[in-house]
Amino acid sequence: KEKEKNMLYSLNKEAARYYFNNLTKDKTALKYLYDRGIQDKTIRTYGLGYSNNSWDDIYTFLKSKGYSEIDIEKAGLIIKHRDGNRYYDRFRGRVMFPIIDVRGRIIGFGGRVVRDGQPKYLNSPDTTVFSKGYNLYGLNIAKKYSRDKILLVEGYMDVISLYQYGINYCVASLGTALTLNQSKLLKRYSNDIYICYDSDNAGLSAADRALDVLREENINAKVILLPTGKDPDDFIKENGRERFENLFKDSYNYLDFKINFYRKKYDLNTVEGKVSFTTDISSMLKNIKSPIELDAYVKKVSQETNISVDAIKEEINHNRDSYV
Ligand code: CTP
Ligand code: MN
Ligand code: MN
Ligand code: MN
Ligand code: MN
Repeated sequence: KEKEKNMLYSLNKEAARYYFNNLTKDKTALKYLYDRGIQDKTIRTYGLGYSNNSWDDIYTFLKSKGYSEIDIEKAGLIIKHRDGNRYYDRFRGRVMFPIIDVRGRIIGFGGRVVRDGQPKYLNSPDTTVFSKGYNLYGLNIAKKYSRDKILLVEGYMDVISLYQYGINYCVASLGTALTLNQSKLLKRYSNDIYICYDSDNAGLSAADRALDVLREENINAKVILLPTGKDPDDFIKENGRERFENLFKDSYNYLDFKINFYRKKYDLNTVEGKVSFTTDISSMLKNIKSPIELDAYVKKVSQETNISVDAIKEEINHNRDSYV
């Protein structure tokens, strides 16, 4: 197994170098990145590349380097054809993002179509060296700068774009919901985690879940909300670094986010919605130890729902009783 892992690290490195060289030759792919504001220096920092639009390009290259079909398939770079023994390249015509672990080894790839096409992003499958739920994109770079905080975003392009603006402590969770293992990994580098997902329904739900996953690791993460429809890459391009950094001051802690999020999830114009909302939030409020803080939140929920402070407090105490 150890031998296979080392083989895969070397193979991935060869592949990344090949993709990188392709990119410098492919005017369309390069123009695509330039049009998105990506600079040469960033391309080198993140080792970006391009997979040619061919069925057997990486296959032929890696074979010429002495790797067997079995090896290349184990790396997830080729896929066996349904009928027979032929293989084809997994990544074709895509900008390539090498996924690098905290020890600097290339463990997999993400690939984005140049302009339109489906699926927009394609990732390496899990392999002997790559488990999506155990790694975070960009952590190899962010860990150098993350003495203080780490910012969790959705996408490769968000990490890279923010980096260019000097926000160099960003990681992305590789197209999956944040896992417990990823939060364990984060915790090794920082206790001050901010979440800034895309400002759409999917992003809000993902942030809601990420807060709970991080909380399981006793991380009190905060959520940064962007204007509707924007992601960090969009926002920083339109508004610049300073405006982006100002958002940290307005970030939402666990309860503030939950109250805001659930307020929109339920229809607070109906009795049913008010009850569900208040019940949900009350079960979270029961954990607050400070009476002052609790009072402030109870008042907030009361204002939202017109349910009396007394009733909410009683609900919270009832919740507390049932948990001891
Ligand atoms: N993703 C994925 N598969 C998809 C779509 C997305 O794995 N079909 C993952 C990728 O890691 C991607 C992230 O989810 O970076 C965020 O998705 P999205 O917001 O669609 O990506 P952006 O990075 O904003 O895409 P774009 O390049 O268009 O800015
Ligand atoms: Mn998304
Ligand atoms: Mn999105
Ligand atoms: Mn984007
Ligand atoms: Mn996005």
